[in-house]
Amino acid sequence: MLRGGVEEAAEFLRAGGLVVFPTETVYGLGADAFNADAVARVYSTKNRPVDNPLILHVADAAEFSRLAANPPEYAYALIKEFWPGPLTLVAKKNPSLPAWLGGHFSRTTETIGIRMPAHFTARELIEAAGCVIAAPSANIAGKPSPTTLAHVLEDFPDLAGILALDGGDSIVGLESTVVDITGEKPVILRPGAITSEEITGEAFKKIVAAQVPRSPGMKYKHYAPRAEMTVLSGDAEKIAAYVKNFFHENPGRRVGVLAREKTLAFFENSQYILSMGEGEKKIAQKFFSRLREFDRLGVEIIFAEAVPETGLGAAIMDRMRKAAGGRVVKI
Ligand code: TXA
Ligand code: MG
Repeated sequence: MLRGGVEEAAEFLRAGGLVVFPTETVYGLGADAFNADAVARVYSTKNRPVDNPLILHVADAAEFSRLAANPPEYAYALIKEFWPGPLTLVAKKNPSLPAWLGGHFSRTTETIGIRMPAHFTARELIEAAGCVIAAPSANIAGKPSPTTLAHVLEDFPDLAGILALDGGDSIVGLESTVVDITGEKPVILRPGAITSEEITGEAFKKIVAAQVPRSPGMKYKHYAPRAEMTVLSGDAEKIAAYVKNFFHENPGRRVGVLAREKTLAFFENSQYILSMGEGEKKIAQKFFSRLREFDRLGVEIIFAEAVPETGLGAAIMDRMRKAAGGRVVKI
């Protein structure tokens, strides 16, 4: 993978190349959204199912208005409140646009996911390229999303012809909140850093968001480490006792534990124990990174401590459950 600066990357995109770029959520693998061949290469590079559309990254709200057909009033309220930032709006597509836009060219979509990222480098890139950037997360489909350039290189160690921009660690660490704005009320399709409380809160008191998995991407196995993961929900002391008992009954297994500091205090010198940090923000920022760390350690079984499902916790638990293939044990 080539390294470069923003100008070089913009030139590369315009010429039909793929660019790895940082965003505040996770790293993206971008192509000029209007170049069908380049977009097709994003799908093949990631091994992404072709029925899963890509988010279009824009530099400003004016671009949103060109891409979306008759967005509702509340869409502009959401934009005003949360853009630039980790919020993707799924709108009806302007009918004058190519039917395949946002998807692989073998598939047509009537809606389109649009987001204006907050990361400085991402915005500089979109502006310099002068095009809309179609970009999924820059991981192999099914792997944890990359929150550092090193993660991207782990998944694509020897990809020629892709240019990468380094933007350090992603601040949010989980992908954007995806909100369907095609109906009377916004519907959250994928929880993220913009929480349902914020969307339904102050500015949007009259709007009720529902959790309906209507995003094609939500049905696939996701974010999975190589190890078999189980989410443990309950009291810290009981979680520690459960895991200790598992250690005891399964000697020789490489067991990893991802838990909060106060839960880890119940363990002594056990191997493969990683702190997920304290506070939702830290936990979200480090979550994917920790899963990749377990892979590097060769862990076979992971126990992860559940977090309360309020605020950002809803997004953390969504990713945790997916990484665990739905295995949650209440203790
Ligand atoms: O934070 C993010 O959203 C990152 C960064 C790079 O912007 N991108 C990202 O892309 O997570 P990806 O492709 O990994 O996830 C996009 C999600 C998928 O679940 C996809 O199904 C959904 O957005 N999506 C995209 N377009 C859609 C549409 N038209 N209708 C419904 N869901 C859509
Ligand atoms: Mg992804």
